Amino acid sequence: MPLPKAELHLHIEGTLEPELAFELAARNGVELPYADTEELRKAYDFEDLQSFLNLYYELMAVLRTERDFEDLANAYLARAAAQGVRHAEIFFDPQAHLARGVGMGTVVEGLWRALGESEARHGVSTQLIMCFLRDESAESALETLEAAKPYLDRIVGVGLDSAEVGHPPVKFREVYEAAAALGLRRVAHAGEEGPPEYITEALDVLGVERIDHGLRCMEDAALVERLVRERIPLTLCPLSNVRLRTVDVLADHPLPAMLDAGLLCTVNSDDPAYFGGYVGDNFDAVRSALGLEEERLRELARNSFVASFLEHDEERRARYLAEVEAYRF
Ligand code: HPA
Ligand code: ZN
Repeated sequence: MPLPKAELHLHIEGTLEPELAFELAARNGVELPYADTEELRKAYDFEDLQSFLNLYYELMAVLRTERDFEDLANAYLARAAAQGVRHAEIFFDPQAHLARGVGMGTVVEGLWRALGESEARHGVSTQLIMCFLRDESAESALETLEAAKPYLDRIVGVGLDSAEVGHPPVKFREVYEAAAALGLRRVAHAGEEGPPEYITEALDVLGVERIDHGLRCMEDAALVERLVRERIPLTLCPLSNVRLRTVDVLADHPLPAMLDAGLLCTVNSDDPAYFGGYVGDNFDAVRSALGLEEERLRELARNSFVASFLEHDEERRARYLAEVEAYRF
């Protein structure tokens, strides 16, 4: 039985496996510029975040109907459940779909068909977090929030993703203020490729409660001290960092140093179809590459529930935390 855990940094579009991409392409009459899954997999050799994003957006062309989003989410939830995920807070990128003429309703209703049944089918509780693409304009983010208004009962919070460098958090001050006024929780990617200052700005200007990635905080001792003091969770994605060349090899990953510093770290999969593994695979990989002891793994699992947006159901959080404490390796 795998260690029970929450997944807090997962882009649903990044769970599109090559086999499902071809199946949906055939179903929707979309032509992919790859002969087969094998040729597609050869394109998964990334130089950096942007080279990954190019493929990530290209493959989204196959996602067209509610059923496509439902199938995508169901495939993820089944795999996540098999790796011990008990709760998942799932990112989606509506602007990438709206730009292709796929409406907000299609995306949210489709995902919801799977999420609404997830507890019964997979034993996984879920929440949805809508991300703004930081390489799109601030106006576009505001329009996206407006388009989401009919669906806010299904969306717990907002996030910020896509190409980081050159798109500082401050660009999205207004839309984050509007999201806060609507009662939405706030997170943002920061310090993945961008500098530590983006982490500070996400906290101070956008009012985020968690930082996605946050790896580069380690370049600023005062910032680390602050993140520890304020108990700001970081949603790390070790296999993603290796595939996008933010760290050279997994053995060099700063996770052990971050835990030693007292940071509230969690381990997540980011875009598992592209980066070589789901969240349990990330746990296994850091365990063997970094020699993490069992109690460190338990700490990571505990942190995932502590950092999750379960304030509406503390009884559930307590139940999950008890499962972590009772787990025998
Ligand atoms: N970083 C930024 N944006 C993203 C990512 C990521 O790892 N995955 C999907 N969108
Ligand atoms: Zn991410």
